[in-house]
Order: sequence, then structure tokens, then C-alpha cells
Amino acid sequence: MAPLSPYGSADFDSRQFRTAMGQFCTGVTIITTLDGDEAPVGFACQSFTALSLDPPLVLFCPMKSSRTWPVIAERGAFCVNVLANRQQSVSAKFGAPGQDKFAGVDWDASPLGLPVIRHCLTWVECTVENIFDGGDHHIVVGRAQTLGEVLQDKPLLFYRGGYLSTEHPRVTPAQEALSDFLTWNGGDEWL
Ligand SMILES: Cc1cc2nc3c(=O)[nH]c(=O)nc-3n(C[C@H](O)[C@H](O)[C@H](O)COP(=O)(O)O)c2cc1C
Repeated sequence: MAPLSPYGSADFDSRQFRTAMGQFCTGVTIITTLDGDEAPVGFACQSFTALSLDPPLVLFCPMKSSRTWPVIAERGAFCVNVLANRQQSVSAKFGAPGQDKFAGVDWDASPLGLPVIRHCLTWVECTVENIFDGGDHHIVVGRAQTLGEVLQDKPLLFYRGGYLSTEHPRVTPAQEALSDFLTWNGGDEWL
């Protein structure tokens, strides 16, 4: 394996690509839905982001081999649960193959009946708006339908293939301040 030169390398393998991409720190979500028998299903997902303010869109990228994705596609709706730092075990559980990932996990039903995992920082219920090809992943765009409450807690972060937390809890805006939270005040029209 050739070392990366200071000026970059076009000759990289997937391990090097994974290592480089692992320098980008993200949060962790659990994307949930209900299957045809109304049983809860879901998977851990870091490739989640807010996409558009007007209309309110988000996106996430499931592997084409994901067992949860066809269930979401069938239902046409999903719930994004944003994990708090204390929910590492939830991430580990939903981030590995399993028959009943919801065993021992408390959840409530969203307005569309989708699983809202308790103690998450927040949740957003979405309908599937668009699906694009993304190599070995799909790029799924969802339209936000319902926002959950915002809890005052630290986020769970994923960085270099491991979990991390912020040193100090940032003051999270309360529910009524969500409009400011989604508005970039730096002058540009960004989330
Ligand atoms: C922190 C973390 C982040 C993950 N992010 C993604 C992701 O963005 N997309 C994805 O397809 N899988 C992701 N995974 C892997 C899936 O959660 C894992 O493959 C899971 O077993 C898929 O479950 P399923 O086949 O039941 O859908 C992630 C796993 C962890 C632990």
C-alpha cells in the first residue's frame, strides 16, 4: 500500500478511502419504519443530513444490501431518530444484522405509526420523496412531515470508526426556537 503523499494520491484502495472519509465526524441516527405485519424495523445510519428548508427535505443513504431499505420503500415513509450519547448500545444494536433489533428498546408511535425511539435528541417523520442511485448505496430524499420534541442532551458522534461525545453539552434550542436553529445567520441562505 503506497503512503498518501502530501499532494494527494489518485492510487487509493477502499481501505484508504474509508479511512479518509472516517475523518468526517457525523451524528448517528436510527432510521425506522413498520413492515407489512406492522412490526418495527430499523438500522443505524450516519449518512443522514438536512437537505432543504423550503420544502423541508432530508436525505439518507442505505446500502443496496440493507434489509430495512426495501421495507421503507414499501411503506413509503420513515422516521429519523437522532441518537443521544447515552444511546451507544442502541447504535450498536441497530448497526448490526439482527432478527429483533427492537427487543428491549422502548418506543412510541409517531403520527404515521412509525417507531420513535425513546430518549433520542429529536426525531423527524418523513415520506419518501425521491430515490437516486449512489453506487453501492441509494440516495433517499424524504419530505419532513412531523418534528419531534428536542431533548437537552449530548449527541452521539461517529468518528474514525468509533463513538465520540462532545466535551460540553451545547445549549440546544427549545422547541419554540427551532426556526432559528434551522436558519444560518451568517448572511447566506443556508440551513
Ligand atoms: C454508526 C453507524 C453508522 C452507519 N451508517 C450507515 C449508513 O449511513 N448507511 C448504511 O446503509 N448503513 C450504515 N450502517 C450500517 C448498518 O446499520 C448495518 O449494516 C445494519 O446491519 C443494516 O441493517 P439492515 O440490513 O437490517 O438494514 C451504520 C452502522 C453504524 C454502527
